[in-house]
Amino acid sequence: MNFILKGDICCCKSQKELETLKDGYLICENALVKGIFAEIPAECASFPVADHSGCLIIPGLCDLHVHAPQYAFRGLGMDAELLDWLEAYTFPEESKYVEIDYANSAYSIFADAMRRSATTRACVFATLHTPATMLLMDKLDRSGIVTYVGKVNMDRNCPDTLRSESADAAIKATDVWIRSTKDRYKNTSPIITPRFVPACSDELMEGLGALQRKYGLPVQSHLSENKEEIAWVRELCPQADSYAGAYDRFGLFGGAGAPTIMAHCVWSEGSEENLLKDNGVFVAHCPQSNINLSSGIAPIRRFITQGIKVGLGSDVAGGCHLSILRAMSDAIQSSKLYWRIVAHDDPPLSVQEAFYLGSAGGGAFFGKAGSFIEGYEFDAVVIDDSAIPSSNPLTFEERLARIIYFSDDSIIRDKYVRGAKIDLD
Ligand code: GUN
Ligand code: FE
Repeated sequence: MNFILKGDICCCKSQKELETLKDGYLICENALVKGIFAEIPAECASFPVADHSGCLIIPGLCDLHVHAPQYAFRGLGMDAELLDWLEAYTFPEESKYVEIDYANSAYSIFADAMRRSATTRACVFATLHTPATMLLMDKLDRSGIVTYVGKVNMDRNCPDTLRSESADAAIKATDVWIRSTKDRYKNTSPIITPRFVPACSDELMEGLGALQRKYGLPVQSHLSENKEEIAWVRELCPQADSYAGAYDRFGLFGGAGAPTIMAHCVWSEGSEENLLKDNGVFVAHCPQSNINLSSGIAPIRRFITQGIKVGLGSDVAGGCHLSILRAMSDAIQSSKLYWRIVAHDDPPLSVQEAFYLGSAGGGAFFGKAGSFIEGYEFDAVVIDDSAIPSSNPLTFEERLARIIYFSDDSIIRDKYVRGAKIDLD
């Protein structure tokens, strides 16, 4: 898999450093980035060149938090806050995935949408149903996108249709599912997924922590999204000194060997914020969901300043758009409101910072992904922004600003994941 993309190349080398080259050559060698060059180096002269002159070539984007079964009702049911929304819309929809035919058609629609988007890597929640979750993994694997998929665990505070009959039954089913999926796919892997503390008993958390250690898998869940939810967790787990502590007690909050993503962290502060940082937990910032469900605005500038790892999530269907370009603009816009209304010392995110969060920021969860640094896995998206006509010449930053603010997936021309071209039809 050696080839060259020609075009206007743009990536973040670090949080502060944008690398750009007009009419440059981005070289893929053995599915890895060899580098960005002004001229094709002699040793690559035989590599085929795909000429995308005039297009922007950016790294593949990373969605650190999305619910596949919720894609079916995106844009609906946005009149409630989290706990009522789960009861009224989410749980009834997720209950349908016990039917494999329903799962087959709904997950086909989701996997197709993921394939056609600018996303090349994603961390996905399924439901607790093993056959449907495996079907989703089959489809995502075939899409070519790199994904972690979680069979969701719940054994309390949810309808009978979604509640495992006991903690032990949930742990056993998760163990069987892990064994049958962990080496099955090229692009898809299992991730330990307690839904959130209110839906998981201590016994279930304990068992999931043991599975994490047994298989060395990553972890994903929700944290400090909504004030009512947080008060509930305080009642359910009086032993923990924070919501984060309620995961950490069971070894489900980062640290050595347990890479972890926590979605939202809208109200994280103090000792919880310290634990996020000390344990290297990734925050999946999901600004659109936080607005739709009236959850609040996450203090992303503060997290970045503290050195906490942050990426972006669509959180479909709390968020209605699957696009990480859209998540970037939502992140900028909500950071402006946070600065104006809440914390005058926390300046808004720039376009470049939001671009970083949606590419290299989230990409770091997957290893060397989300940038065109030499040795990174070759994930690239070709965007034909000439479809957004301009009567003025634009800088790279201006072109990025437009594709982010307009978030129009129809101008995606090509996508590559780990050096393989994805079929966008
Ligand atoms: N907390 C627990 N489950 C969910 C979910 O499905 N979506 C969101 N946004 N938050 C949750
Ligand atoms: Fe979520």
